[in-house]
Amino acid sequence: MADDERPTSEPSREGRVALVTGVTGGIGRAVTRGLLDAGYAVVGTVRDRSRASTAELDPGRTGRLVLVEADMTDTERLHAVAEAAADPFGPVDVLLPIAGVGDVRALDEISPEDWERTLRVNLTAPFVLAQALLPGMVERGWGRIVFTSSVAAFTGGFVGPHYAASKAGLHGLVHALSARAAAHGVTVNAIAPALIADTAMIDGMPSSVPTPPVGRLGRPDEVAQLTLAVLGNAYLTGQVLLLEGGSRPS
Ligand SMILES: NC(=O)c1ccc[n+]([C@@H]2O[C@H](COP(=O)([O-])OP(=O)(O)OC[C@H]3O[C@@H](n4cnc5c(N)ncnc54)[C@H](OP(=O)(O)O)[C@@H]3O)[C@@H](O)[C@H]2O)c1
Repeated sequence: MADDERPTSEPSREGRVALVTGVTGGIGRAVTRGLLDAGYAVVGTVRDRSRASTAELDPGRTGRLVLVEADMTDTERLHAVAEAAADPFGPVDVLLPIAGVGDVRALDEISPEDWERTLRVNLTAPFVLAQALLPGMVERGWGRIVFTSSVAAFTGGFVGPHYAASKAGLHGLVHALSARAAAHGVTVNAIAPALIADTAMIDGMPSSVPTPPVGRLGRPDEVAQLTLAVLGNAYLTGQVLLLEGGSRPS
C-alpha cells in the first residue's frame, strides 16, 4: 500500500470499548477516568463488586462504565470474562490489564503460593485476556493492548524476584503479540511505571525506597496520560515505555 493510501489520523474514540482490570486501584481508577473523559466506554473488572462504586469511578456520570466481578487468580474463568465484556457496549477494542499484586518478599521468603499468585495475577491473567481478545481485534482491523509492567522488570526493584519476573514476562508478550498483530491495525505495548503515589502498592513499599530523581513520586493521572497517548498512536507498537521519574539507573 502506498503511504498516501494509509489513514493519517486515528478514528474517533467515541464508541471504542475498553476492558480495564483493577479499576479500584490507584492507577486503574485514574486510567478509567481518563478513558471516560476521552469518550471511551469502559468495562471495568473489580474483585469484589460490593466494594466498588460506579458513581465514584465515573464522577462525570457518563453512563459509559460497567463494572464486572472477576478475580484474576481464577484463570479458568477469564475467557468467559473476556467474552462477557462485549455484552454492555459491543466488542472490546482496547485491553488494559492493570490489576496487579506485589507483596514485598526477600528471595528466601517467597513461598510457592506467593510465586503462583503473583504470576497468575500479573502475567497469566493479562495473557489469557489477550489470548481471548486479540483475534477479534485483528479481525476487525483495530485494537490496542497496553500491559502494565514495572521498572522492576529492568532493575529487579524493591518488591522481590517474584514480582520482577512476573512483570518481565509481559515484555515477552509485547514482542510476541505485537509482531503478529502489527499488520492488522492492532498495537501491543507496555507501560513500566515506578513509584506511583496514591496506590495501595506504594503503601506497601519499604520506607528505604529512594525518591526518584525528579524529586517526587509519580501520579496515577500521569500513567493515565501516557496510556491515552499510547492508545492514540497507531505507529507505536512492540514497545515497553518507562515512566519512572529518572529512577532507572543507566
Ligand atoms: N504503584 C506503583 O508504584 C506501581 C509501579 C509499577 C507498576 N505498578 C503496577 O500498576 C498496576 C496497578 O497497581 P496500583 O499501583 O494501582 O496498585 P493498587 O492500588 O494496589 O491496585 C491494584 C489493583 O489490582 C487489583 N487486584 C489485585 N489482586 C487482584 C486479583 N486477584 N483479582 C482482581 N484484581 C486484583 C486490586 O483490586 P482490589 O481493590 O480488590 O484489591 C486493585 O484494583 C499493577 O499491575 C502494579 O504492578 C504499580
